[in-house]
Amino acid sequence: MSAPARIAVLASGRGSNLQCLLDGIATGQLDARIAGVFSDKPAAAALDKVAPELRWARPPRDFANREAFDTALGDAVAACAPDWIVCAGYMRILGAGFVQRFAGRLVNIHPSLLPLHKGLHTHARALEAGDAEHGASVHFVVPELDAGTVIAQARVPVLAGDSSDTLAARVLAVEHPLLLATVRLLIEGRVAERDGTVLLDGQSLFNPLRLDSAGTLHR
Ligand code: GRF
Repeated sequence: MSAPARIAVLASGRGSNLQCLLDGIATGQLDARIAGVFSDKPAAAALDKVAPELRWARPPRDFANREAFDTALGDAVAACAPDWIVCAGYMRILGAGFVQRFAGRLVNIHPSLLPLHKGLHTHARALEAGDAEHGASVHFVVPELDAGTVIAQARVPVLAGDSSDTLAARVLAVEHPLLLATVRLLIEGRVAERDGTVLLDGQSLFNPLRLDSAGTLHR
């Protein structure tokens, strides 16, 4: 049997997506271990979810510039020898050097149906746009913000009377199974990225995989 996949998680906030991965490991749904949790926010609640020796957190103001921060972060991530690096609520833009260093094994979960609503305040923007549906995407990371190839998405309806908070809560509830199912495919070696296309079991995906209500991904 092969060793459990090593996953590094980058997080700036509460860490509910990290918790979902930890729960997936604890319940045997993910044959993985969290090899490290990395943050630009030393007070991030996400850090408390793992043992102190697995935590790395440094504020960017401790560094001369973005490159210096990214190099230190990249060295720390590389030191835990991750198979996959998952950005889960990591709120700082990663520089091109970092992205290239981990290209092909760096993914992010973003709370919108990309390519709609890249960047911040996605729930308010979906409401403003009058979208009938909203959701979350897991994508490979490229230097341009939220622009990498999308692997999988989960959709929710926008309901009459939604506020950005009620909509965010509905999206978060599908983010967790979406992330779990997608990371599972990644660590099973079933998904890869080639020239801007996602391959599933060696075949090009022309649309992102879709999560069903049972938490399973479908073409
Ligand atoms: C999630 O909505 C994620 O998609 C976004 O930030 C939020 C992080 O939530 N980028 P958590 O820290 O995982 O609870």
